[in-house]
Amino acid sequence: MPLPTYQIKFLFVAILCIYCQLGFSQELTSPDGNFELKVSLTTNGTPQYQLSYKGKKVIEPSLLGLQLKNAPSMREGFTIEETSTSVVDETWNPVWGKQKTVRNHYKELVMKLVQSDLDSRYIRLRFRLFNDGLAFRYEFPKQPKLNYFVIEEEYSEFALAGDHKIFWIPGDYDTHEYAYTTSKISEIPEKMEEATIYINAQTPIESLAVQTPSMMKTEDGLYINIHEAALQNYAAMELNVDAKNQVLRSHLVPDAVGNKGYMQTNTHSPWRTIIVSDDARAILASHMIINLNEPTDYEDTSWIKPTKYIGVWWEYFVEGKSTWAYGKETNVKLEDDFSQLTPNGRHGATTTHVKEYVDFAAEHGFDAVLVEGWNIGWEDWIGNWKENVFDFTTPYPDFDVEEVTNYARSKGVKIMMHHETSASATNYERRLDRAFEFMNEHGYTSVKTGYVGQIIPRGEHHDGQWMVNHFSHVAKRAADYQIMINSHEAVRPTGLHRTYPNWIAQESARGTEFEAMGGLAPEHASILAFTRLIGGPMDYTPGIFQTDLSYYGNNNQRVNTTLVKQLAYYVTMYSPLQMAADLPENYQRFPDAFQFIKDVAVDWDNSWYLEAEPGDYVTIARKAKGKNEWFVGSMTDENSRTAIVDFSFLPKGENYIATVYADGKEASFDKNPQSYTIQQFVVTHKSKLKQFIARGGGLAISIKEATKTDRKGLKKL
Ligand code: NOJ
Ligand code: CA
Repeated sequence: MPLPTYQIKFLFVAILCIYCQLGFSQELTSPDGNFELKVSLTTNGTPQYQLSYKGKKVIEPSLLGLQLKNAPSMREGFTIEETSTSVVDETWNPVWGKQKTVRNHYKELVMKLVQSDLDSRYIRLRFRLFNDGLAFRYEFPKQPKLNYFVIEEEYSEFALAGDHKIFWIPGDYDTHEYAYTTSKISEIPEKMEEATIYINAQTPIESLAVQTPSMMKTEDGLYINIHEAALQNYAAMELNVDAKNQVLRSHLVPDAVGNKGYMQTNTHSPWRTIIVSDDARAILASHMIINLNEPTDYEDTSWIKPTKYIGVWWEYFVEGKSTWAYGKETNVKLEDDFSQLTPNGRHGATTTHVKEYVDFAAEHGFDAVLVEGWNIGWEDWIGNWKENVFDFTTPYPDFDVEEVTNYARSKGVKIMMHHETSASATNYERRLDRAFEFMNEHGYTSVKTGYVGQIIPRGEHHDGQWMVNHFSHVAKRAADYQIMINSHEAVRPTGLHRTYPNWIAQESARGTEFEAMGGLAPEHASILAFTRLIGGPMDYTPGIFQTDLSYYGNNNQRVNTTLVKQLAYYVTMYSPLQMAADLPENYQRFPDAFQFIKDVAVDWDNSWYLEAEPGDYVTIARKAKGKNEWFVGSMTDENSRTAIVDFSFLPKGENYIATVYADGKEASFDKNPQSYTIQQFVVTHKSKLKQFIARGGGLAISIKEATKTDRKGLKKL
């Protein structure tokens, strides 16, 4: 497959001033004129910027700069030596995505800032103003008086223009698996303790902080999302909160000795992004983050395939079913003879059981079966900060890799590899090539990785520079072996899937597994759409039909959605990798609803954002890639509502058949989650559907081409 094509429609560069005056303010407007950016220097020579949207203040004057370790700071004493602007308008085609064509259209301002008292040490500030928001980054060009430096802290401010509503999780160096709190910015201090729930291997930030993507809504209806793009060779950015003045300030994740970044000139920071709109749907539709990432340099991407999969997985979370571990012992070493362990009798990944999953996948058209717990070491994988928990190549005695692989191949199903690293990144890096070779030898083309626990090298954090480099390294190395990566517990995404399109999905948030460990609030997914998913696709693992988990013996546990909302997720929770996470036996109980999961696409030509409000509801329509099939998903929070689906996204003049999967009249996530109806209608681009959605419920629609005979007897919407 050829590299994405670029058509630079218009590129204009202007040098605006050289040795600009002090007090000089540089202004830039977005291509559509809605945004206005002003950049200037304070009297101390500190760079500052401000941003407005349609005349409303979004960011009040906010300072920029960096504190270096054992070196003069990059926070003041600057003069502006040169500024230039340019315009770019191009389109490109992602390997996979929400749309087959993405437009990248912005105006850019670059400033050279010189510290003349420091031997003319200089940096560049690069601002890009899109029609959906602002991005900026620090650049450190190669120069005589600056080679290597260590970042003590980055001081990028986001001074907000009011005490906005904010959807937030506590700042943490190691995990994003928190539940969201919605409050005013000024209320964050009083709510922080309650929000900082227990999570395995967490490191909450002591100075008041929240994580990005951070979603806000102003009193006069502006939506503001702050995040970062293209996070490479740098620590992730968290945001310290000055609750009184509503200022957010960058706080980088430190390394084991407290430093925040090791830099060598001819480099730059990631982009700091502020997506803004007065329409919540535009936040979901934004391509800013992915546009700010570098195009891939992979020559061949034909092996990267959006995937729908099932797996030996959910049975590890529901009571009484099975376990990752094979032996009863709880103290093992890789050198041990695992055939001598005492089988616990409940091992999930046995040859026979995995073959049952393969049969199910083949029968229902799934691409792959994820197998967790196939390899030795699970007896003491968690909580011991142990270096060599897994070797990624040795199966348990009751799992015959060759037999399973051959069986799956004969059925046209892929086995999806699982590499839980137990957060021992050093062990994983040492064994990585052998592990990928093993996958190549067996024809495994995708792997789910995991980083549960405290990181090794000890003292490093999941979101620090060291691990950021580890995750990119794994993605790049995997590409050498034509392997796709789905990473769990990895640093939250920043659009790097454009650069590494084989990094096909990530978890990096509180996903379905927590439905079996305390439950997710019904509003959770409609917040995630505006937060976690802004950075990239999530392996949310939807599709749970048996939502009341007391069915298995999990005391008072339930998945807080209706069955239909689980269907809606396949459209609303965008990912080119989608799991049908429930046990096959539950799909067999509801074959008509299961049909939607079988039909739904995982790669798209186009997407339309029909209704959206963070924390409340989201309705999205998408067209399957290369096919005349459309899918609609709508999800709501704990309140019922009426969704309005406008079918004007359909081509004019054609009649299609829409299959509508809706919550039953009496349905609700807590009382009656499995009540649903399935109805068929004829629809055209003029159709509109007003559809009841239950509390914690959803709506899913599949739309196909139809002949006259198919349409006979069906009601027209
Ligand atoms: C946490 C992951 O999120 C989950 O999906 C996986 O099953 C376990 N770790 C074990 O690797
Ligand atoms: Ca997890």
